[in-house]
Amino acid sequence: MFVCSHCRHGSSKWFGRCPDCGAWSSARESSSTATPRPVVTTLASAAPKHRLSTGLAALDSVLGGGLVPGAVTLLAGEPGIGKSTLVLQLLDEMAAGGLRAMLAAGEESLDQVGLRAARLGIAADHLLALPSTSVTDVLAAVEAERPDVIVIDSIQTLVHEGVDAAPGSVTQVSECARAMVGYAKSSGTALVLVGHVTKDGAVAGPKALEHVVDVVLTLDGERSGGLRLLRAIKNRFGACDEIGVFEMGGRGLKAVPDPSAMLLESRRAGVPGSVVFAGLEGSRPVLVEIQALVSKSSMAQPRRVAIGIDSRRLIVLTGVLSRRAGLSIHEQDVFVAAAGGLMVREPAADLAACLAVCSALRDVPVNPGLVAVGEVGLSGELRRVPGLERRLVEAARLGFTAAIIPSRTERVPAGIRAIEVEALGDAIDAVAALTNVSA
Ligand code: TYD
Ligand code: MG
Repeated sequence: MFVCSHCRHGSSKWFGRCPDCGAWSSARESSSTATPRPVVTTLASAAPKHRLSTGLAALDSVLGGGLVPGAVTLLAGEPGIGKSTLVLQLLDEMAAGGLRAMLAAGEESLDQVGLRAARLGIAADHLLALPSTSVTDVLAAVEAERPDVIVIDSIQTLVHEGVDAAPGSVTQVSECARAMVGYAKSSGTALVLVGHVTKDGAVAGPKALEHVVDVVLTLDGERSGGLRLLRAIKNRFGACDEIGVFEMGGRGLKAVPDPSAMLLESRRAGVPGSVVFAGLEGSRPVLVEIQALVSKSSMAQPRRVAIGIDSRRLIVLTGVLSRRAGLSIHEQDVFVAAAGGLMVREPAADLAACLAVCSALRDVPVNPGLVAVGEVGLSGELRRVPGLERRLVEAARLGFTAAIIPSRTERVPAGIRAIEVEALGDAIDAVAALTNVSA
């Protein structure tokens, strides 16, 4: 009797592909004719999973300690962001650690992968590589080679012969993933799937996979900038509050130990339109310079351009600035950017963006010792943000001496003066009062 390890379909004959759920290589011999019933136990019997270190400390901490054997991780990100680079570095480190590491390359030829490996200084001979887009080939290869870790780059290029759908379509991607996930679970192999998403998440493929996999990692950043942020947005084996900050350089991705210092490195203090935002990425405080430029528009409809922050938020904020704080920007083009190529997604950056626009419009620099944090509501009120204390501790560590914040409930660390304000207008006044004083 053979039972599908995936859906428990039973059959008296061995099958390569389960006739019921379509999973490949999921047939397992079973001594009884009935599918085995689960036994009730207590959670105490659940053994803690051991983990495979990826050799990249920043990646390990995002994963919560490393890859879990038998678990499936989806690495999602826009094309060109560095996914292939990251997985190649991971495979190299794991192979160097004595594990069998294999790459199934569907997207690029082995020559291209080899060039990347050479660029990264990776000795290509200890990595197993398979140039194929066929699930059957991949499953046959992994059955034969029994790697400890497999990377599929990318899941969108994989094709399941039994499925009549275009590569990259939701049906095709889901079926391929299902087959690979079935193999990973039954063999205890750590599986990493690379998936492309576009800016608005339009490619449905990876989204459709999120519930099938155990861990979803996203890699993002402004492609032109060097900075890349790795986050876990789902993790069945750990928390989602760690982030990894990397920099894409000439030899691949390198962890950035002190992102705030790096982001502020090239800041020119005392320039109009620059305000430092005390941000929080997961549980990690990150200081980011928000820059604004305001210039008279030649268009009937002035432009609002956001780089590294949400463009819809910028439109709302310019509306609030003009209606609630009396700024005359309705005939001005407004450009706002998060410096350093970081994507700032927090509403807590609203205040810094507004103050930057105000400073740019008036052509008056804000005090360089100042950070700002707070969400701005539609009526111009300032809203509380989570993790205020952590943000301010980081600001104090980097030498900032004053912070404009919403009314607080948390402690403010020593060394930093907290200026509590209730509304955007008050914040603008507070900044003006600080301009000529040392903060
Ligand atoms: P890649 O990993 O191919 O992106 P993805 O798989 O997400 O599409 O990397 C994309 C970019 O990274 C590419 O434009 C070149 C650049 N890059 C570097 O800057 N340094 C490097 O060492 C490597 C390997 C790539
Ligand atoms: Mg790639």
